[in-house]
Amino acid sequence: MSLETLLNEARLIDMSASIETDRSTTIAAYFKRAQEDRLGFWEDRARELHWFKEWDKTLSWNKPHAKWFEGGKLNAAYNCLDLHLEKYGTKTAMIWESEDGTSQHLSYEDLHHRVVALASQLKEKFGIQKGDRVTIYMPMVPELAVAVLACARIGAVHSVVFAGFSATSLRDRIQDSDSKLLISADGGYRRGAVVPLQAIVTEALSNNSCPKLDDVLVYRYISPKEPLADLGDYQVHDYLETVSENPVHHDAEVMDSEDPLFILYTSGTTGKPKGIVHTTGGYMTHAKYSARTVFDLTPNDVYWCTADVGWITGHTYMLYGLLSNAATIVMYEGTPDFPNQSRFWEIIDKHQVSIFYTAPTAIRCFMKWGDDKISDYDLSSLRLLGTVGEPINPEAWMWYYSVIGKERCPIVDTWWQTETGGIMMTTLPSHKPLKPGSAGFALPGISAQIVTVDGDAVSVGGGLLTLTEPWPSMLRGVWGDENRFIETYWSTLDTYFAGDGASIDANGYITVLGRIDDVLNVAGHRIGTMEVESAIIEHPAVAESAVVGIPDDLKGQAIMAFVMLKGGFEESEALISEIRQVVSDSIGPIAKPKMIMITPDLPKTRSGKIMRRILKNLACGDSAGDVTTLGNPDCVKEIEAKCQTL
Ligand code: WT7
Repeated sequence: MSLETLLNEARLIDMSASIETDRSTTIAAYFKRAQEDRLGFWEDRARELHWFKEWDKTLSWNKPHAKWFEGGKLNAAYNCLDLHLEKYGTKTAMIWESEDGTSQHLSYEDLHHRVVALASQLKEKFGIQKGDRVTIYMPMVPELAVAVLACARIGAVHSVVFAGFSATSLRDRIQDSDSKLLISADGGYRRGAVVPLQAIVTEALSNNSCPKLDDVLVYRYISPKEPLADLGDYQVHDYLETVSENPVHHDAEVMDSEDPLFILYTSGTTGKPKGIVHTTGGYMTHAKYSARTVFDLTPNDVYWCTADVGWITGHTYMLYGLLSNAATIVMYEGTPDFPNQSRFWEIIDKHQVSIFYTAPTAIRCFMKWGDDKISDYDLSSLRLLGTVGEPINPEAWMWYYSVIGKERCPIVDTWWQTETGGIMMTTLPSHKPLKPGSAGFALPGISAQIVTVDGDAVSVGGGLLTLTEPWPSMLRGVWGDENRFIETYWSTLDTYFAGDGASIDANGYITVLGRIDDVLNVAGHRIGTMEVESAIIEHPAVAESAVVGIPDDLKGQAIMAFVMLKGGFEESEALISEIRQVVSDSIGPIAKPKMIMITPDLPKTRSGKIMRRILKNLACGDSAGDVTTLGNPDCVKEIEAKCQTL
């Protein structure tokens, strides 16, 4: 998508009539209150949760360290389950749709029951205590949600690793978090095929690679009768047997507002992913408030977020934000094209989904697959649509609006990050007309600005996106790496630097343009260029590599790798596919480069720094740009010639 298309968008679509008056009034009151008394506004929001004890102090801000609701005591899982039992015990909490088309309805009572059963075993059988880390590596089955909430119930810090990640990625994350327990499954399904999670786990843990890990709990989902694999140094347990062992009921652990709730790893500008730390009180405050406000949630809604629980979207806007509001959520195990390209619409029709939240990359796929894939399904239950993960091109926005929403449903384009914990910006339909491609405005309580590199506010035009005031669900740090926390987020500007470039128009609409650091956004997944480069050089033939993002019609960005071979190696198709495989093995299939170009040299400054900008220009078919700082300008011509043959 060209930036001009985004920046020239001028349509404004008023959808205020789609929001009931009382809820529009509430939102107007939120804006007013947050404007007049920001902390008072957040106190009101925090009071929507159940606290065992109220906090003593709303905010301690010792930049960049925030403490919200200090001294307050609560439990996140209690707020998602126990709290609702009286009023909503029999209400459906989760509709689980399996890939093969069967579905299960779990009431709040059912979910609570399962969570309590697992939670007490985590304590009794595995000796997991408050603050211990538990890694969860599971397919999209209800047990994944149960595992997350069971950890929260006993105060264990969960670290969910997306089940599409490789053995190496899993091992790194177990090691970095010093997890004591791994909860996994024997496998999952993807387009009818089995994803062999057990084999991946076995590989990740081989050679006693994770000495702090004691136990592995395996949910036998694919082959319930197969014996459990022997994992050598670790104790392996059967999930279903464990939870049915007559557990003793434990009350939910009383947590301090600032106790960590979870770690979630995400990619940054170095080769090593960082563990983003979120705490309990502030995160839950924002999750509950933002889910209700942005999605205009009412008790009768059926809400479906298509993200995997392995990403922040699945944490906040499938589980915590929705369950804390006693909502009914849909959780779907599979992909949008299985068994055919109508699957999502079939699910919406079948379960009468009213709120649907997905990613622009998915929307562009649906457009490509054709409107006839949709026409046989009744989408009249839908009333609000959302997008997240990357900028949405206005063309895809308009398609989503007219073909899926039939011009009845507002679209909330929500900008946020793993680090922000929850949605920071969107255009609330009751507040302002919607602008295709533009996230719009900071939510009540959040302060966003566009600034120059010197930190001066830009009133109209482009710049860096920053959040200028602390907010309850902000990251509290990078697990075990204070320097990286400060370096990454707090050293570019005086305020929180999001890593995104953005533009603000005369009406105050903010349009996010994308990452300006060495982080790519491929199909809504964040991937570090350095991460891919470190994977590529693991191949014995590779001397050096440089990775850049190139525009891709479906995925937003695709990965292109420039690779320099060691002496004695020749370029070949086989070698290129081996290099792609190395990346897939090392990170996961989502990081496979779309294109690999073997080059004799890489453009470098005299001090040896690879100039990715030049490579990016060439890959996009543009001229190289300024090459005067290069130590080896000659290689540019060669690479340019090769790029022209693409
Ligand atoms: C990056 C964060 C937040 C959940 C999904 C991704 C990009 C996210 C939008 C949007 C434009 C967006 C940004 C951001 N991004 N939402 N609505 N419009 N860009 O979480 O992996 O932490 O990635 O995704 O570049 O920095 P994440």
